[in-house]
Amino acid sequence: MTLDRGILADTARTAYGDIENVNADLIKWREVDGQPGNYIKVLTLDVANNRVDFLFKQDPHAEFAKHEHKCTAVALTLDGLWGYREGKELHFEGTFSYEPPGSIHTPYATEKGMTVYASFQGTSDLMLDILDEDDKVIDQLRLDFFAQYYEG
Ligand SMILES: [Fe+2]
Repeated sequence: MTLDRGILADTARTAYGDIENVNADLIKWREVDGQPGNYIKVLTLDVANNRVDFLFKQDPHAEFAKHEHKCTAVALTLDGLWGYREGKELHFEGTFSYEPPGSIHTPYATEKGMTVYASFQGTSDLMLDILDEDDKVIDQLRLDFFAQYYEG
């Protein structure tokens, strides 16, 4: 007997009161503007608390721009194999990364690509400073950058 999975089986988003529920499988990947091979699904966006929760995916050998966190970030790897250019560690299914404000790094995927669940929690709407190779700020990603990928 197959258990009925209820309303989320074929509904991307439901809410009761303040609680939001999401079937991420029903939300499309969106390529991140200016970051080829990097994709996002925004799960929830909590503007009042400067928080965004999302799935992030990189194609094999894709890289995301070097950045400094202005928020606290956490990431749980769901699959693939990836790392930071500045470190030796590789992340794979089940590993967890905690990135406090001030962390600077360049995430890249190996030939296996990667998918993570991540949460950014800020003290303002500023999430990331995008840096050049000399750590000069060349762009700033605020909560509204993530909001453009939110599919309600
Ligand atoms: Fe990061």
